[in-house]
Amino acid sequence: MTAVDDARALLAAPEVGVWSAPGRANLIGEHTDYNEGFVLPFAIAQRTAAVVALRDDDVIRVRSTFADDAVEVSLADLDARIAAGGLDWAGYPLGVAWALRAAAPDATPRGVDIALASEVPVGAGLSSSAAIEGAVASALNDVWGAGLDKVALARVGRTAENDAVGAPTGIMDQMASMLGVADAATFLDCRTLETRPVALGFAEAGLAILVVDTLVEHAHSSGGYRERREACERGAAAFGVPALRDLTVDDLPRAAEILDDVTFRRVRHIITENQRVLDTVAALDAEGPTAIGDLLTASHASMRDDFEISVPELDLAVETALAAGALGARMTGGGFGGAAIALIPTELVPAATDAVHAAFAASGFRAPNVFTVTPSEGARRDA
Ligand code: GLA
Repeated sequence: MTAVDDARALLAAPEVGVWSAPGRANLIGEHTDYNEGFVLPFAIAQRTAAVVALRDDDVIRVRSTFADDAVEVSLADLDARIAAGGLDWAGYPLGVAWALRAAAPDATPRGVDIALASEVPVGAGLSSSAAIEGAVASALNDVWGAGLDKVALARVGRTAENDAVGAPTGIMDQMASMLGVADAATFLDCRTLETRPVALGFAEAGLAILVVDTLVEHAHSSGGYRERREACERGAAAFGVPALRDLTVDDLPRAAEILDDVTFRRVRHIITENQRVLDTVAALDAEGPTAIGDLLTASHASMRDDFEISVPELDLAVETALAAGALGARMTGGGFGGAAIALIPTELVPAATDAVHAAFAASGFRAPNVFTVTPSEGARRDA
């Protein structure tokens, strides 16, 4: 794995171990996680590696292929440095160290060098951040003897993202990265954090997942993501329920009566998206992956029209993939940029790739990155 080699090259002292965690693609269930609803992501083969060496002092030193300089913080200063912010990429690994120490009172924190390298494309909506968090959380859990399980480590990653980096995200990405199973998606109830691997069987059915990374940048610590979250909270408050998870399609007529138009459409996306996740799981269990295409495409329409988180590049990627023979297609991740996925017969991948490039060129859009992803294993110790 190249990420391990790249990370090893950054580490000056002898390693005590290597851990890695993958990025993820979300098959369906978007913006439902912080509404305590359902999601169905899968871990991808691209991973982030964390190689660790022990130190004699109480300093955590992080280096990565993302930046030239190492960042050092002593354990004594960690709380203050996290509170002060401004740590850039180092906020992810140091935020994990900070959150893990707080979550595991029995742990023995000690100084470490951590070298990070990643194969997960940054800013593509494939959770490069959850991959860093999963790799570092898994590493420090072992090195510090914290003894947390995978769900607890996912929570640590989310705490780092929410409170150290300042992005008000849900827990989907961290759970997908920690708990991924090869050839399966992780069906997650974001209220109870119960999970079940759902067999995908793409290869057996002659299908592939094509990713179109539009290279349109998004940042969830600002703007639209936070605004959508607030609209959902307004909707839940108007119904007097803890979260939109508590509403179903039967509540839509009343929602139309009591909510303003924008809030209603935000709420309608969440309610119908939760139902689409349940329908997708049922279709996969009963009929397999050829049965889920229309649900994926309906999810995209809901994000484009009701939740309004798509961009023209994502819409074009979806339309072009469908015209090229995809069974279904949708943007994946938080939106406002990033990637779309298409479920497509494997033999159509080359022609669909060409069609997407041609359509982007004709529209004057920047050339996208187009590649396939494979449902893969979650976080693990590699050495
Ligand atoms: C981002 C967040 C997730 C989730 C998705 C949208 O990836 O990190 O928690 O909210 O957006 O589904």
